[in-house]
Amino acid sequence: MIIVIIGSQWGDEGKGKVVDLLADRFDVVARYQGGHNAGHSVYVGDKAFVLRLLPSGIIHKNSVCVLGNGMVIDPKAFFGEVDEMIEKGVSITPDRLKVSSRAHLIMPYHQALDHTSEERLGNEKIGTTLRGIGPAYEDKAGRRGIRVADALSPEVLKNRIERNLAEANKVIAVFGREPLRFDEIFEEMTELAERLRPFVCETSHFFSEAKKDNKKILLEGAQATLLDVDHGTYPFVTSSNPTAGGASVGAGIPPHHITGVLGIVRTYATRVGEGPFPSEMLNEEDGVANLIRERGNEFGSVTKRPRRCGWFDAVATRYAAELNGFDSVALTKIDVLDALDEIKVCIGYEIDGERVDTFPAVSQDLRQIRPIYETLEGWKSDTLGITKVGDLPAKAKEYVDFLSRSIGVEIGLISTGPERDQTIILKDSVMESWFA
Ligand code: GDP
Ligand code: IMO
Ligand code: MG
Repeated sequence: MIIVIIGSQWGDEGKGKVVDLLADRFDVVARYQGGHNAGHSVYVGDKAFVLRLLPSGIIHKNSVCVLGNGMVIDPKAFFGEVDEMIEKGVSITPDRLKVSSRAHLIMPYHQALDHTSEERLGNEKIGTTLRGIGPAYEDKAGRRGIRVADALSPEVLKNRIERNLAEANKVIAVFGREPLRFDEIFEEMTELAERLRPFVCETSHFFSEAKKDNKKILLEGAQATLLDVDHGTYPFVTSSNPTAGGASVGAGIPPHHITGVLGIVRTYATRVGEGPFPSEMLNEEDGVANLIRERGNEFGSVTKRPRRCGWFDAVATRYAAELNGFDSVALTKIDVLDALDEIKVCIGYEIDGERVDTFPAVSQDLRQIRPIYETLEGWKSDTLGITKVGDLPAKAKEYVDFLSRSIGVEIGLISTGPERDQTIILKDSVMESWFA
């Protein structure tokens, strides 16, 4: 069994919590795109973990974790996180952590270029995490990137850094920044590459063998559908493909071996950084936005930036469901809405006076959208920690059913709090079969 987990909105839907829940039943947990721009939070008892680069399964001692070829890996961030995990009592050995030889490396100049690129864009900036993700993927597409396998050969590493740094420093100089020094980068990267060597693996062969042995594999998407470089709100997106198709390419697994796709959907929407957000709460809704931000702890788990808050967008989420082919959905953070008198759901868009029910390609159109809302009554009672669907207030259950109908997919799991046991799994759902 191979299941892909995908964020349906603009990220931070609660992927980490759901991966952690499923990881117990799976043998392998793998990331297939992105890098340490992700922040996946997991709570286990009194311990809090924020996974950035490592798959969330790393917390489970029996999971083997893989960083797939589609990722961009900053080796310093990688070992920073490995050391942090070891300090928290997680055992990390090459037996249970594998890094694709084909993944690309994020170099110090990529991070510098992320800054200059944002500076150049000024008011039109993306609001990136400044981790060097975009510039590393630009080098990959430009066929000058440095892959993990390249870094293991000091000669190749030296040549590539020399060539790429010369170009990067020209741009860096234009922005009046200090040029980066070759010796420092080469020395640091050579050391890190040696430390990485035991973890390096032909990961797609590893997956193929795992499948032959009937192992269960979980593919953990980072970012989300609307941040996908092809399908998201371009250009306000990340530089990889978090969507289901990206899982096949980024893990090196044949598409027809993937058995199921699980969408993570939050009961409302948030966005970090710039870019269109049709159902964003308006100024006069500041009170509600602040309430949600406080109750839902909507501050970036990596950058600590306050997340922009908005209502559930059925048009955008239905688009995600179609595009990824969700077989089941995990609906998170229902408890955050407990305090609201009424809850709005965006059920359509109006652009230039015309009703639109599909997600437009052009960011400009998205900015001019007038969202059409349906307003539902709130349930005004506590759902935190509920584990049985029958214990949900009737109006909360109606809200869940409304969302399920509006996106056309079953909701198989309802998350009622950040902790593992604050979860409802619905009987006879596709989701339930994945937990078997
Ligand atoms: P991810 O990037 O999709 O993994 O999500 P993040 O971890 O960045 O953000 C989700 C936040 O919501 C984290 O702080 C989670 O612990 C928390 N969370 C997840 N599910 C629930 C839930 O059902 N209720 C509440 N209150 N918090 C949740
Ligand atoms: P998880 O996996 C939310 C956003 C950034 C920015 C855009 C591009 O925790 O859901 P990048 O640094 O990737 O070039 O930034 O994407 N972004 C995220 N937003 N959650 C994330 O990850 C994100 N990763 C990137 O804020 O708008
Ligand atoms: Mg996150």
